[in-house]
This record gives sequence, structure tokens and C-alpha cells, in this order.
Amino acid sequence: MKFYITTPIYYVNGEPHLGHAYTTIAADVFARYHRLKNNDVFFLVGTDEHGLKIEQKAIQMNKNPQEFCDEISAKFQFLWDTLNISNDYFIRTTDLNHKNVVRKALQILFDKNLIYKKKYQGFYCIGCEEYKTKIQLKNGKCPLHQKEPECIQEECYFFKLSNFQKQLIEKIQKDEFKIEPIERKNEILGFLNKEDLKDVAISRKKVKWGIPLPFDKSHTTYVWVDAFLNYLTGINWQGDTKKIPNFWPPNVQLMAKDILRVHATIWPALLLALNIPLPNKIFVHGFFTINGQKMSKSIGNVILPNDLIDKFGIDATRYLLLSQFPLEQDGDISMEKLEEKYNSNLVNGLGNLIARVLTLAEHNQFSFNNETSSNETKVKIKKIWDEYEKNIENFQLFESLKIIWELIAFYDKYIEKEKPWKIKNNSKQLNKILFNCLEGIYHLGIMCLPFMPKISEKIFVQLGIENEITKKSLNELKNIKQFNFKIKKGENLFPRKK
Ligand code: MSP
Repeated sequence: MKFYITTPIYYVNGEPHLGHAYTTIAADVFARYHRLKNNDVFFLVGTDEHGLKIEQKAIQMNKNPQEFCDEISAKFQFLWDTLNISNDYFIRTTDLNHKNVVRKALQILFDKNLIYKKKYQGFYCIGCEEYKTKIQLKNGKCPLHQKEPECIQEECYFFKLSNFQKQLIEKIQKDEFKIEPIERKNEILGFLNKEDLKDVAISRKKVKWGIPLPFDKSHTTYVWVDAFLNYLTGINWQGDTKKIPNFWPPNVQLMAKDILRVHATIWPALLLALNIPLPNKIFVHGFFTINGQKMSKSIGNVILPNDLIDKFGIDATRYLLLSQFPLEQDGDISMEKLEEKYNSNLVNGLGNLIARVLTLAEHNQFSFNNETSSNETKVKIKKIWDEYEKNIENFQLFESLKIIWELIAFYDKYIEKEKPWKIKNNSKQLNKILFNCLEGIYHLGIMCLPFMPKISEKIFVQLGIENEITKKSLNELKNIKQFNFKIKKGENLFPRKK
């Protein structure tokens, strides 16, 4: 089965921040999990590089826009490499193929009479790269960017978004175009049932840094039409509506609530207009604040991805970000909370259990002698696997991590109960207990694979089974009965932080 997953493509008007890392790490976990399930995965990430705010930022930095975009886009790519993001492609909206295909798509829409020219006056928020209606503004300001939008009067080309209102309501209502969680679906349906969709401006006359319209070179298209089509050009669509790449449609598009409305209106309407099937699902995650406030340079509460990587390491950063609160909810993070979680869950939880078991196994020269799991551990492992998989498949990453930690607590208790240190060396009974614990560590290693791939590798190396893991599907890995353990306890997986 194929599994196509996307993240938003991020603006290059600033450096990659923790919010970008959050979505991308979550998407990476899904991609890795589905690869383990033997699905044919395509995982797309990228950068969104056109528009006024990027042009302005480049000028401010004394760079030409292309040079500026190259630099910032490279920073995103570098960060994703560092964080071990397993994307199959990195799309840039300044790619030549992307630009050509956007022009082709615009021409198709123009030929279908779905694009027209009109004089327009409106309030334009550069931060959102969007015209705002009066209702969307709070005290005259964009609620997201806390800035008064510019009043602009100019001639624009418009896409007939209003034509698609009925179809959108129907597709969303019937879950043909699923929006999850349900509260987000209801929010969009509430909006679509209450307000008339207005046609949307898709071009600017004075913005040079965009893609010139094929039917009027004095205009450039900016952000949204250009940006949305990345999901198609990123899998090598060439602009022919009869030849859609095999990976289409996306199984899931992950994003935060800030861009849901455009993704639930303009984006599917463009696809309907081009006669291309809609994505199966949009999954919307929440926003996090830092110490109760929006992350911002002026407040001085910015935590950069590299601050966390330097402090905790790559895999711990991946874990810590996803283990704070459920994906679909908003939540707050702080350095203190992250440190606390690092020490309690990783150092004292997972790291300590592994060190304890491997020390015992090494000390007692454990060797596998066709032991089988005790009933108690077999039942527990099966239950944990069922819940873990159900959770990941439903995008409940926080919950699947909780389940893994339930298994860790189970083994901590099991060891306390069995007291292996009191049992005679080299006895069958001791070997059986050690086997049960090692088997548990093995399953923990597999469960951690999508979240902390390098830590899992280290676990398998310490168990001496690293070569037996590769190329096996999750089903095979879950059901292994023969364990060729050759224990070589290494360093502790998570160094203690003060
Ligand atoms: N370029 C557009 C998207 C075009 S997609 C066709 C854009 N870019 S963005 O750089 O502003 O990224 C927005 C996304 O960044 C959010 O949807 C979310 O995935 C992520 N986040 C940004 N800040 C975040 C938080 N504080 N918390 C969680 N996610 C955050 O919009």
C-alpha cells in the first residue's frame, strides 16, 4: 500500500524554528512507522520561497532574493538532516520545474474561465500573504501577526473560489476530504455554512518575486496557488491533468491550525477546478507556546531547535517535543519541563532500565537457550503493541509514547518482583528472567524506531542483534521468536543532565 505524507512548505523569511521542527518530526514518525509496516512511503517537505515578505526580507539583508532563498532553504535542509528526517524529497518553490508547472496549471484555470481580472481594494496582511476581511481582523489588526494590514488598491487576477462552496461542504461533510480531529472539521463546516466564500486574489502587480502569470506577464502569482501546487510538483507532476503521479492523492497532510482554512478551501477548490482527486485527509495539530507565551524574539523566549539538540541530543529532542502534550491540542513547553522530562523519562526511565538489564545479563553471561516468554510478559507485550499501533495510526503520538512508557514501568516492576540478583548464577530460572527482560528491551527498541531511530540502533547494538533488524517488516519484528542476543553493554543511552 502507498502512503504519501506532506508537511507544509515553510516560508524562508526567517530561520527554521521549533514550530517547524515540531510538525516535521511528527510527520517523520508517521513516515518511518509506515515504512516499517512495509508501505510504499513518500514523505515530502520543502520551502515556500516567493512573495512580498521574502522579497522585503532579502532587500533588508542586502541580498538578491534568490541568493537569500538559497541560504535559508539550505538551513532548513541542514536542520532536517541533523534531526534525521527521512523525507524522500525536498521541494523548493523556486525550482524550475515547479515554476513551469504552476504556469501550466494557471493557464488551465484561465482557459476554463476560472480566473478573471478585477480592480480590488482590500486589507493585505504581509505576514499571512493574504487579503483579510473586516471580520477576520481584531481591533483592526491581524490576530496572528498583531499588525495592521496594508490597505492596497490594485488590479488583481482572481480565482473563482466562490464556485466551489457547495462541493466543498459536501466533500468535507461526507469525509471524502477528511479533516481531523473532528473539532477542526466542525469548525470549517461552521465557517463554510455561515459565510459566503469570496473569490481569492492570486496575483500582484508590484511584487516582482513571484511567478509571472502565463497570460499576463505584468502580474506574478504569489504564495498560495504557487505554494499549494508543491504537493503535486513534489512528486513530479508535470502539469498534465490526465497524468497524475502514482503517489497521488496524499494519505495525510499534516499542518497546524494556522493554515487549515486555506487548506480546506483554496487548496481543494484548486484541485476540483483542475479535476484532480482531493487529498484523503488533513490532520491538524495544535500550536505550542513557550512559558505561556507565543514564541517571539521581542519577548526573548525563543528556543531554537539547535538549543535542544546541543543540550539533549537529536533523538531526545525528537522525543521531548512529541511527549509534551497530545498532537491535536495546544500546549505549553519550557526548558524546565523539557529537562524534567529528559531526566525522568529518558535517563531514569528508558536509559536506566536498559543499563540495569544489560548489566545483569552481561554479568551473568546470558546466552539464549530457546527460552520463551512467560505468560505475563507475552500478554503485556501484545496489549502494548495493539495500543501502540492503534494510536500511531490515529495520529495519537503522545498516547503511543505513553504506552511505550507503560511497558518500561511494567519491566521495572517485573525486575523488582523477580529480584534476579538473588537468584543463583547460571541457573535456568535466572536465564528465563533475564530472557524476559531482554525480550522487553528488544520490543522497546522496535517501538522507539519511528521516534528515536538512532537510540533504537544503539539498543540493538547493545543486544548484539543489529544485523537482524534491517529489512524486516514490523510484523516480522514483532513476532520474532529466536533471539541471537550477544550482549555488549555500551555507554548509557542518555547522559544525565544537571
Ligand atoms: N508557507 C506557508 C505554508 C504553505 S503550505 C502549502 C506557511 N509557512 S510557515 O513557515 O508559516 O509555517 C506554518 C507551519 O509551521 C504551521 O502550520 C505548523 O506546521 C508550523 N508551526 C509554526 N509555528 C508553530 C507553533 N508555535 N506550534 C506548532 N506548529 C507551528 O504557513
